[in-house]
Amino acid sequence: MFALRWLRFQEALRREGIELAALIPGANLFYLTGLSFHRMERPIVALFPIEGDPALILPSFEIEKAQAAPIPWRFFSYTDEEGPVSAFQRAAETLGVSGRPIAVETLAMRVMEWSLLAQAFRASEPIPAEPLLARLRMIKGPEEIAAMRRAVAVAEEALRMWLPQIRIGMTEREAARRLIQACFAAGADALAFEPIVVAGPSTALPHATPSDRPMERGELMLVDFGVVVDGYVSDLTRTFALGEPDPVWDRIYEVVREANAAGRAAVRPGIPAEAVDRAARAVIEAAGYGAYFIHRTGHGLGLEVHEPPYIVAGNATLLQPGMTFTIEPGIYLPGKGGVRIEDDVVVTETGGESLTAFPRELMRIGESHDS
Ligand code: CO
Repeated sequence: MFALRWLRFQEALRREGIELAALIPGANLFYLTGLSFHRMERPIVALFPIEGDPALILPSFEIEKAQAAPIPWRFFSYTDEEGPVSAFQRAAETLGVSGRPIAVETLAMRVMEWSLLAQAFRASEPIPAEPLLARLRMIKGPEEIAAMRRAVAVAEEALRMWLPQIRIGMTEREAARRLIQACFAAGADALAFEPIVVAGPSTALPHATPSDRPMERGELMLVDFGVVVDGYVSDLTRTFALGEPDPVWDRIYEVVREANAAGRAAVRPGIPAEAVDRAARAVIEAAGYGAYFIHRTGHGLGLEVHEPPYIVAGNATLLQPGMTFTIEPGIYLPGKGGVRIEDDVVVTETGGESLTAFPRELMRIGESHDS
């Protein structure tokens, strides 16, 4: 699988006339080679030239790990005492690339790596490698979708284990701590990101942080979380009522639920990504809450929690079978509260399928049911 991927990447570079790509540890390098390293102060840079085998600049103690990947690496290693400068120079001499633009991850590469590359390769400019990699990564294969299904199943199981533990009066932070425990108990390899568990006014902030504030009766509680299984992530948001909320929230919740359903129903191959955003947004606008839906409808999902395709106005990328992304419309009333319902979908040959199936009705929770 990996052997095929880096060769396809090399082919893409050749088509674009880019002589060299340099990637640092992260989702792209994992996708191409199956290798993951800590992103630390010791630079690790993988070089993919247009011709010939890839090269890996890395600390010498990491070579053994890198050899496990089915890639015909040429290694340029350095010790802590030496430092990385000469390894970069040896790599540049061996690859014979000088004075050319280099494709790099402009969203991730640090000034440290770029400076070392620019000096050794006399690189004229960085060009974004992300669009090339996105074209490969956006279309998930069956084994990738299977991993995402597992990540969704674990998240939904965690949510089922966690909800009965929630009590009115519990702090957001305590609820978040219990959710993290439920994720690992359900089989998560890791968390996809720090879970958002907030209630009351904080739900009006799409990316609020759990606090020590107790969650009160009548408030909404919003939970947005996901897990990693076999490298792939899930990302799920549900909004619950702690006891009985003000009736206005029932109405707002219904609008968001319809918008989520309209977004999911719109998914099919051949339409632009922005059409899914339009479908969800139209429902919220028609209900008069357009000004309170303050973010895009969704984002691609896979090895990373945010990756292409983005479900946003202006994105003309045509949906293709195997693309996976979230649909997460929301309505946020500043200072009062907000509702978001997020599902993970995959584009199929004929339409779209939601990987997430957790109930979308507004559930009342938080009361003790001991009697
Ligand atoms: Co999301």
